Amino acid sequence: MKITIAEVSQYVNQEVTMGVWLANKRSSGKIAFLQLRDGSGFIQGVVVKEEVGDEIFQKAKALTQESSLYVTGIVREDERSPFGYELAVQNVDLIHAATDYPITPKEHGTEFLMDNRHLWIRSKRQHAVLRIRHEIIRATYEFFHKNGFVKVDPPILTGSAPEGTTELFHTKYFDEDAYLSQSGQLYMEAAAMAFGRVFSFGPTFRAEKSKTRRHLIEFWMIEPEMAFMDHEDNLRMQENYVSYLVQSVLQNCALELKTLGRDIAKLEKVKAPFPRITYDEAIKMLHDQGYNDIQWGDDFGAPHETAIAESFEKPVFITHYPAKIKAFYMKPDPNRPDVVLCADLIAPEGYGELIGGSQRIDDYDFLKQRLDEHGLNEETYKWYMDLRKYGSVPHSGFGLGLERTVAWISGTEHVRETIPFPRLLNRLYP
Ligand code: 4AD
Ligand code: MG
Repeated sequence: MKITIAEVSQYVNQEVTMGVWLANKRSSGKIAFLQLRDGSGFIQGVVVKEEVGDEIFQKAKALTQESSLYVTGIVREDERSPFGYELAVQNVDLIHAATDYPITPKEHGTEFLMDNRHLWIRSKRQHAVLRIRHEIIRATYEFFHKNGFVKVDPPILTGSAPEGTTELFHTKYFDEDAYLSQSGQLYMEAAAMAFGRVFSFGPTFRAEKSKTRRHLIEFWMIEPEMAFMDHEDNLRMQENYVSYLVQSVLQNCALELKTLGRDIAKLEKVKAPFPRITYDEAIKMLHDQGYNDIQWGDDFGAPHETAIAESFEKPVFITHYPAKIKAFYMKPDPNRPDVVLCADLIAPEGYGELIGGSQRIDDYDFLKQRLDEHGLNEETYKWYMDLRKYGSVPHSGFGLGLERTVAWISGTEHVRETIPFPRLLNRLYP
């Protein structure tokens, strides 16, 4: 029976064959322990010379790291294994012998590992992080499906810039100028007027010259947009969504979290509702903690976000930022027009901003005024203005950065390890 490692629990005490790679190996004169992986999981194969005979034993002993093979044996329950099973090997059948695999079990520097990213993703920790990424993607589709959202795909090649013009990737679109999308939001607003509740999930691009552990040049964003939903409704959807992601990973990725040594107790506390503070309160908190470099009207830097997050065990919403440091489309607070109905969701443990979101301006004349104030071209945004012309409604939405969310939930220091092939300031290879 040809099976995958993930399926072994259904075949206890039965003979199975699996296509695998050799991750690592230990052996003596009489017994060899093969660390095997097939992508679906890791299992130890035990080869006993007395049982398999000298020829098969020598074949097993000669296997090199990352060689591919078919292995046949009996599945045994094994309490000592973190996985719960091992394979009593009966035969090994080499497919391809690998020589001098560059990533050996010893320590390697990050640049070397990043140069070998195409191989590094086979390693146990990297594998665990990317499996958690997969679970977050799966749970995202499930959550929005359960809540009546329709997935709509905005374009990647665009003629306009929702989040400001300084960080755009420019390209030619025949005779016109085009930009790689930095957010699908404006298109999602159009989609919300057609489908009510929508979400997008795709790559976004920002030519940010930042070299931090939170910034990628190409990252994936989930952008829900909801008609008839105000600022309050928006925050409630966000906290329910983020709780759902964390609880799904806890439930379905226990082994991966263990591999990564993630402190589960911290994640278990992440259940809606989340604490909320205003921008004003955040500034006061920072001043009380001695951060006198920041004044009302400044945007927060990473150290500020981390300092604020330290006071909370769950992600915290910072709401009502000054209008002048936020995007043109955000609706001002009717009681206080110098701040907008927005929120950033800041992760615990220093992982930074997970979500940016807001209620959108729904009044035609006011939006036009904002476009002018921001020096944005009215022709380019004509279609966006139309949404305020034909049945305008209160609506809100947000964008969650996938890689920062994976970094936080998996407890990975740097976002470069949370995406299979990161695009960084100085890296376009592999
Ligand atoms: O706060 P941002 O810029 O919001 C928007 O783009 C809105 N249009 C979203 C919306 O309302 N539909 O980005 C949203 C999130 C951030 O909170 C962060 O998690 C992530 O995207 N993000 C990045 N992640 C990795 N690398 C970067 N350079 C990122 N820039 C933003
Ligand atoms: Mg933001």
